[in-house]
This record gives sequence, C-alpha cells and structure tokens, in this order.
Amino acid sequence: MNVAQQPKSQTMTLSERADELEHQMEEELERVVTKSLLFNLADGKVAYDSGAALNAKYPGKYMLMGDDPRLPKMPAKPTLLDYFRYRFASMNHLLQSATHALKAGLPEKTVLACLLHDVVQEIIKVDHGWWGAQLFEPYISEKAAFAIRYHQALRFYADPANGYEYPDLYRRIFGHDYRPEPYIEATYQMVRKHKWYGEARMVTVNDLYAFDPNAQVSLDVFVDIIGRHFKQPKEGLGYDNSPVAHMWRTIERPDAPL
Ligand SMILES: [Fe+2]
Ligand SMILES: [Fe+2]
Repeated sequence: MNVAQQPKSQTMTLSERADELEHQMEEELERVVTKSLLFNLADGKVAYDSGAALNAKYPGKYMLMGDDPRLPKMPAKPTLLDYFRYRFASMNHLLQSATHALKAGLPEKTVLACLLHDVVQEIIKVDHGWWGAQLFEPYISEKAAFAIRYHQALRFYADPANGYEYPDLYRRIFGHDYRPEPYIEATYQMVRKHKWYGEARMVTVNDLYAFDPNAQVSLDVFVDIIGRHFKQPKEGLGYDNSPVAHMWRTIERPDAPL
C-alpha cells in the first residue's frame, strides 16, 4: 500500500494525532457548522449538502461569498470577546483551563495564556502552539505568547514537581513506547532551561484535558483580565492590517470559498 492509499490516521505523526484527538474532543463540545456550502442566489435558499451533491442538485448556482448565514453576524470591528461569543468552538475547554488557573491564583498574564492556548485550532491543528502564539503576538505580552507557543511541546513531558503528570490518555492512544518527534524533544530541552518555563508549564498544568460539557464556566469572569492584558485594535480584529489580520478574518468567515 502506498502512502496515498493509507488511511489518514496511518500517515499522520503521533504528534499530529494528539492534536487531532484534542481538536475532535473540543468539537464534540461545541460544534459550529463550517462545512462546504453552496448558496442558491436565484431564490435565496440555502442548501446544506456536500459541494458535489449540491452541484448535481442545483446546476448553475453559485458559491456563497461574504457572511455565512449559518453563523452569528459579527460586528464591523470585532473584539476578542466577540470572537469568544460568536466563533470559538473550543470556548468551553478554554474557559475550563482559565478558570482552573484563576482558582490556582496564577498571574493574570498566565490566566490569559490558558484562556487563549488552543484558540488557533479554529483554523489549524498541526503545531497549534506555534500558530497560536503567532495569532496573538501583536496583542499580548511576550511572556504569554511564549507560554502558548510552548505548551504544545511540554504536554508530552511530565513535571510532577510542578503538578503535571504525563496524560494517561496519551498512553492509551499512542502506546507506552511513544516518543515525540525530535523537534518537539529539542524544543522541550530549550524551554526547560528558559526563564519563562514556568509560564508555559502552567498552561499544561491547567490544560487538564478538560472536556467536561457540564462544567460551570463563564466568560464574564475574564472580561477584566482581557481588558487589562489584551491590546484590542480599534479597527477590530481582522481589520487592523497586522501581520495576522488574515487569520482572524479566516476565523470570522471559516468557509468563504475564495
Ligand atoms: Fe493545546
Ligand atoms: Fe488544551
């Protein structure tokens, strides 16, 4: 069997499979429908089949551009809170992590890192720590971005003295002999000696693999922390011409076809 014929799970690295699993668990909590959509401009009807099925059923119709009618409309100048309320499918997991960090009395910048640590999985899973830090770097402290970037590597390495055990879940799904990719190992060795190791480690400690759909959490608790530590651009996220504005627009309109 060549690579193209193998099931996707066999061609993914173990680290990618860890990301995939985490993402799937989040999606089970709060699913936002973002599958391919064709829009019948002639009669205004919206159809929800796959692209191929719709093409067969509605020949000569058009693809939807602009706002997606299945998703809540965003304000013209969206804030981080708007994204939390209207777009972040992983909000429950993020709130559980941040609530845990808050109760542990961690500094507000670390609580914010916990609140934002997996947001980027809205648009990409692979290397979500690096991508996630990039998404937020223009708007948060260097230290909080560092914590988001490196939680991805640290989650594979136990640190019982700081309250982090290697997740049982990983043992079950990757086997007892699993070793992370060399770049993850090298990253861990670097971060382990870094002055901000503690901040990145606390994101993993509070990550909790917390996917309890019945957990009592609220975004309201974090509004002031966001206000103090997140530099909201006055033009709105996605419209401030920053190097990551396109990433925010992708989250706002996740299924825009062109
Ligand atoms: Fe993560
Ligand atoms: Fe997480």
